[in-house]
Amino acid sequence: MSLHGRTVYAKSVLRESDVSQGPLQLLQDWVEDAVKQQLPDATAFALSTLDQNDFPHSRIVLLRELSQGTLVFYTNYLSEKGRDLERHPRAGATFFWPQLERQIRVRGEVVRVSLGMSDTYFASRPRESQLGAWASQQSERVESRIELDHAFQAAESRFQGGEVPRPPHWGGFALKPVHMEFWQGRPSRLHDRLSFVKTEQGAWDLHRLQP
Ligand SMILES: Cc1cc2nc3c(=O)[nH]c(=O)nc-3n(C[C@H](O)[C@H](O)[C@H](O)COP(=O)(O)O)c2cc1C
Repeated sequence: MSLHGRTVYAKSVLRESDVSQGPLQLLQDWVEDAVKQQLPDATAFALSTLDQNDFPHSRIVLLRELSQGTLVFYTNYLSEKGRDLERHPRAGATFFWPQLERQIRVRGEVVRVSLGMSDTYFASRPRESQLGAWASQQSERVESRIELDHAFQAAESRFQGGEVPRPPHWGGFALKPVHMEFWQGRPSRLHDRLSFVKTEQGAWDLHRLQP
């Protein structure tokens, strides 16, 4: 097996004039491009948090909404990431769409979304996912697969075909960006990188970075 594949990046370009609507609009445009092209898990991004020993730690989650200038994702508040974010409410988000030769990197502050917003989103999920949220104590150890399946069956009989409420420990987080960087692959490894930093006045400072 060779680990030395050589991709030539030449699908598109990223110009300063493409970002006149600001970085949040560009993020939305790029996510929509990925969704329209039906890329698998088009809204997935790597969410990086700091653990209790300040080790950065990343895992994939799904972007579910772009709401009021924030990136919203849903999870278990008692999971490892949930606990990381309670302790240290700052995170990184990295999107990568190889088919579009694009990457977006975001850094920002994280808050919980409102209970109403979490309720609405939870109610929209398939029943199996709702029951799964009750069955799984995300990030905790489990003795066996069978124990997990039993926890699912217990949730099924608890709610017996009725409405499944949102577990109190399950909900959304909103990541409010302070720094965003857009990367578009280009030939000769001279990629386009546009970086936005939020100023104290709330405007975005735009810089082009060397690849
Ligand atoms: C494509 C994909 C999408 C995922 N989406 C989510 C998600 O939206 N929310 C979530 O809590 N976990 C999601 N996961 C699982 C997480 O990557 C992770 O395993 C889980 O949240 C536990 O992480 P933690 O122990 O660091 O809290 C997803 C995994 C993959 C591969």
